[in-house]
Amino acid sequence: MRDECLVLAKLDHPDLRVIDVGSGTGFNTEGIVRHVPASQVTCVDQSPHQLARAKKKSVLQHCTFLLGDAENIPAETDSFDRYTSTGSIEYWPNPQQGLMEAYRVIKPGGIALMVGPIEPKGPIARFLANTWMLFPKEEEYFQWMKGAGFVDIQHVYTAPHWIPGREKYGIGISGRKPVSGVSPGWQPITAVAQAGEKKNMSFGRKVQLFFRVIIGSLAGFFFIPGALIGYLFAIGKQSHIPKEQREKLNGYQIAVLVILGLLLIFLIYKIVS
Ligand SMILES: C[S@@+](CC[C@H](N)C(=O)[O-])C[C@H]1O[C@@H](n2cnc3c(N)ncnc32)[C@H](O)[C@@H]1O
Repeated sequence: MRDECLVLAKLDHPDLRVIDVGSGTGFNTEGIVRHVPASQVTCVDQSPHQLARAKKKSVLQHCTFLLGDAENIPAETDSFDRYTSTGSIEYWPNPQQGLMEAYRVIKPGGIALMVGPIEPKGPIARFLANTWMLFPKEEEYFQWMKGAGFVDIQHVYTAPHWIPGREKYGIGISGRKPVSGVSPGWQPITAVAQAGEKKNMSFGRKVQLFFRVIIGSLAGFFFIPGALIGYLFAIGKQSHIPKEQREKLNGYQIAVLVILGLLLIFLIYKIVS
């Protein structure tokens, strides 16, 4: 899915300066450094823990790592040739501001690529997705790109191989910045305003947030095994995909599957005995 979408970022020259926002543990960045030297790549994430994990990866050793917010990127206007962000927009409270920031930090003629999930069509999946995160609707991606001022907008739909019929699961959408400067309507977010928001959080808001986190995490809890089970049912169905692009499970996912398998065996044993 990553490599399918990265094509739209046109990483076609080793001199390109690239910024990867919401870079997390560096999965997307690992795809970028196949095309551009790591020393040309800047990773931005709001989580120091995620950044620390990315820094440990040997291929990302020479990247620059910045702690920062996608909606207030710690970078100069007109400073990068490419902007990418994958699997992060669904966490942002104000995606339009995030896209305006993408526009601001790239040079005129530069390209921004946004990759994110699309709100599922099925009612149960949609309920869980919206309880867990802020899955955007397909048309919102286009509105936000246009609203930020991008032109030559291109897109590709993407889905894991185990989604039946390759329905619209995720989207990669790119646009070109036509002129230098900031987006029309762009406003700086001052550090003072952000600090003020945190300081003034009422008790009621804190309680609301607490329950939101619990309910959201429970919804996420159902989503993740769903994806793992989908993967299991589709084993052997990746033969048409080039080897290096095939989906693989990581150690955590394998551990979850083993635990689920053991629970199932235990349940069956209890039922039959
Ligand atoms: C699911 S991870 C995706 C990581 C990586 N881009 C990838 O494709 O694997 C989402 C990342 O977005 C980061 N994130 C969420 N909201 C953010 C924000 N407002 N500013 C910067 N990073 C943010 C999270 O800390 C997390 O590391």
